[in-house]
Amino acid sequence: MMKGNFPITAFQSQQTPFYYYDLDLLQRTLEEIKAQAPEPHFHVHYAMKACVNPAVLKTICEAGLGADCVSGGEIEAALAAGIPPERIVYAGVGKADWEIKLGLHNDIYCFNAESEAELEVINALAAEMGKTARIALRVNPNVDAHTHHYITTGLDENKFGIDLSQVGQVAVLVKRLPNLKLVGLHFHIGSQITDMVPFQNLCVRINEIQEQLADKGIRVSDINVGGGLGINYEHPNHCPIADFEGYFKVFRKHLQLREGQILHFELGRSVVAPCGTLITKVLYVKKGRYKQFVIVDAGMTDLIRPALYQAFHRIENLTSKAPEEIYDVVGPICESTDVFVKDYPMSGTRRGDLLAIRSAGAYGETMASRYNLRKLPASYTSDDL
Ligand code: LLP
Repeated sequence: MMKGNFPITAFQSQQTPFYYYDLDLLQRTLEEIKAQAPEPHFHVHYAMKACVNPAVLKTICEAGLGADCVSGGEIEAALAAGIPPERIVYAGVGKADWEIKLGLHNDIYCFNAESEAELEVINALAAEMGKTARIALRVNPNVDAHTHHYITTGLDENKFGIDLSQVGQVAVLVKRLPNLKLVGLHFHIGSQITDMVPFQNLCVRINEIQEQLADKGIRVSDINVGGGLGINYEHPNHCPIADFEGYFKVFRKHLQLREGQILHFELGRSVVAPCGTLITKVLYVKKGRYKQFVIVDAGMTDLIRPALYQAFHRIENLTSKAPEEIYDVVGPICESTDVFVKDYPMSGTRRGDLLAIRSAGAYGETMASRYNLRKLPASYTSDDL
């Protein structure tokens, strides 16, 4: 039996909770990205932090996307998935020596460097290894992404990037360090951005910075605008694919690239969020004085986004046709924040029903923890079930 795109009968024979990835939707999403951001002038790197399910990674690698990594572990996973090193970029405010060496050893495309101190270390390690590290300076553009403050990264108050006032002097330093080669400028203003204006503001800021650097005789071959394109969490069925057309159009229209410059993107959520669903079983329905609680076997250890960012994920009861009632859907963890949604209308629910927590493909499984000594959630794809 199917409901929407979900194979309910196959779900019923699996231990819950588990993640389910729709590879057909992922494939269609990747085709749309490739159509809207054609190479050679656009390079899209998948932000590994969003989801590293092996089948998902394989599909992304086969589509030809590069990888945006933020740890040695992610570099290893990208290489293991078959993503070529020349398509790997590596960012992060705190790169450890072993991680830098791993990147150098594998000749990754570039290090997105965030401070003078880090540049000195990359230069020293590259010298030891007889290598030259390609560098993109991660600039903090001070552009407001107008998203949740926990996932805003490009403001002066955030720890990320090099302050705008220091970019020129740091670029000069890179030129002086013999084992570094300055190739690019890197930016990332935040995540789950659905209004295109912040991206437009970023373009304007990049144009200014490029002009200031040109005055100093500095020119780079690569501009990396990071990720951040949001998805529609409210209507996963009507809007299963993010607005890539509108997103890439902003950069085409407002960013003044210099001759031969390559434009890089680091998209995570918009690539994988819609294709992932957390499937959970109802353990109990409890009537309180004012509320009805649906207690499920998935918790904030499986999907932390509602607890951490007050994020909304649509929930569907896959096995009930009973008239709607109002519920709080909660997990079993010993924390009051372990709530998926409050005061939510859902088909009349009973013990044993299967619920689909939608749009959970990004920052779901990768952020799972073993708090309360719970088991990590399993995962399946549409090829498995
Ligand atoms: N590039 C950099 C440098 C980043 O820091 C991020 C995400 C991305 C690219 C990918 O951004 P995306 O296209 O996925 O928006 N855990 C949070 C999101 C944290 C995002 C961190 N950085 C959440 O669940 O909403």
